[in-house]
Amino acid sequence: GKDGYRHYMEKELHEHPLVIGQTLQRMVDPASRRVMLPEMPFDLASVPRAVITACGSAFYAGMIGRYWLEDIARLPVDIDVASEMRYRNPPLTAGSLGLLISQSGETADTLAALRSLREKAVHILSVLNVEHSTMARESDVVLGTVAGPEISVASTKAFTAQLTVLACLSIAAARARGTLDEAGEDALVSALLDLPSRAAEVFTQGPAIRRMAQIVVEARDVLYLGRGSMFPVAMEGALKLKEITYIHAEAYAAGEMKHGPISLIDRTVPIVASAPYTPLFDKTLSNLQEAKARGGRLLVFTDTKGADRVSAIAEEMVVLPHVHDFVAPILQTIPVQMLAYEVAVLKGTDVDQPRNLAKSVTVE
Ligand code: M6R
Repeated sequence: GKDGYRHYMEKELHEHPLVIGQTLQRMVDPASRRVMLPEMPFDLASVPRAVITACGSAFYAGMIGRYWLEDIARLPVDIDVASEMRYRNPPLTAGSLGLLISQSGETADTLAALRSLREKAVHILSVLNVEHSTMARESDVVLGTVAGPEISVASTKAFTAQLTVLACLSIAAARARGTLDEAGEDALVSALLDLPSRAAEVFTQGPAIRRMAQIVVEARDVLYLGRGSMFPVAMEGALKLKEITYIHAEAYAAGEMKHGPISLIDRTVPIVASAPYTPLFDKTLSNLQEAKARGGRLLVFTDTKGADRVSAIAEEMVVLPHVHDFVAPILQTIPVQMLAYEVAVLKGTDVDQPRNLAKSVTVE
C-alpha cells in the first residue's frame, strides 16, 4: 500500500534515503569502508572502453555515470539512448564493456541493444532493479539496485539507486585501473556513506519546493538548466515534469542557453536550475544572470555554500546540504523530482498513472 502517502510516487520519493543506504550496504564493506563488487568474468583494469545505453531516466543516470567513469576511472565512454545505439553500429573492440541500465530489466529497446552488443563480443554488465528479469538472464554480470518495487510510472528511487551503483562501479574501476589512491577512495566512499542522512534532510525543503510549484504550475513551458553532472539532473527534472504534469519542459546544458534557447526567455517561461556549489558554480551562476537580465524568473536548487549568491538573483530557491561534488548529482535529483510531484498535485493529474505511459515499455 501507500503507507499513508497520497500517491505511490510520494511514498517512493520518501524512500530515497533508504534505498541509497540499502544499495550502499550491498556494495561497500563496512569494516574496510571499501567498495566490494561481485566477482566479474572480466577485468575492469583492461576493458578498452565502455558503452552505456538505456532509456528515459535510466539513460540520464548513465550520463552521470559517464562523467564518473571518465573522470575518476579514466575509462573512455560512449553513450546513447538504446533506441538509437543499434543504428549507429559503433565500432567496438571485442572485450569492451557494455553497460546497460534498467529499472525493470524488460525494456524492449534496452534489451535489443543488449543483444546487439553481445553479438559484438562485448561484456554485458547490467544495472537492474528487477533481478529476475529478461535482461538479468542475458547479462554476464548484474549489479542490483536495492530500490524495492517501484510502482509509480515516473521513476524516482530507482534512479538514485542506479546512481549509487554507478558511483560504486566507478570507484571500483578506478581502483582497478590505478587512477584512484586509497585516500581518494576514502573521500569518495565517505561522501557516499554520508548520503542517506543528507538525503533525509532534503524533505525539510518541502515548503520552498511547493512555492516553486506554484510558479511552475502556471507555465506552459519551463526551461531546466545545469552544467556538468547537473545537466543530466536537469534532463531528469524536465522529463519528470513532462510525464506527470503535461507541461512542456526542456533541459539545456547551462552554457548552451546562449546559443539559442535564450530567445525563448521571458516572464512566462520559468527557469529551473540545479546549481550546487561545485567548481562549475560560478559559470552556472553567470548563465543564470544572463537569463535574469532577459526577464527570466529563476527557481534555483543550490546548497548551503551557494545560497548567499543564489539568493541575490533567484525568485525562489531550495537549499540542500553541501556535499562532495562527486555525490552532488545524487542529492540534487531528489528535489527536482519532488518539484514535478508537487506541480502534478496542484494540477490534479493522475500522478501514478500518467496518460499514454506504461511502467515498462515492452515494444520497440
Ligand atoms: O525500466 P527501465 O528503467 O528500462 O525504463 C526506462 C524508461 O522507460 C523509464 O525510465 C521512463 O523514462 C520513466 N517513466 C521515467 O520516469
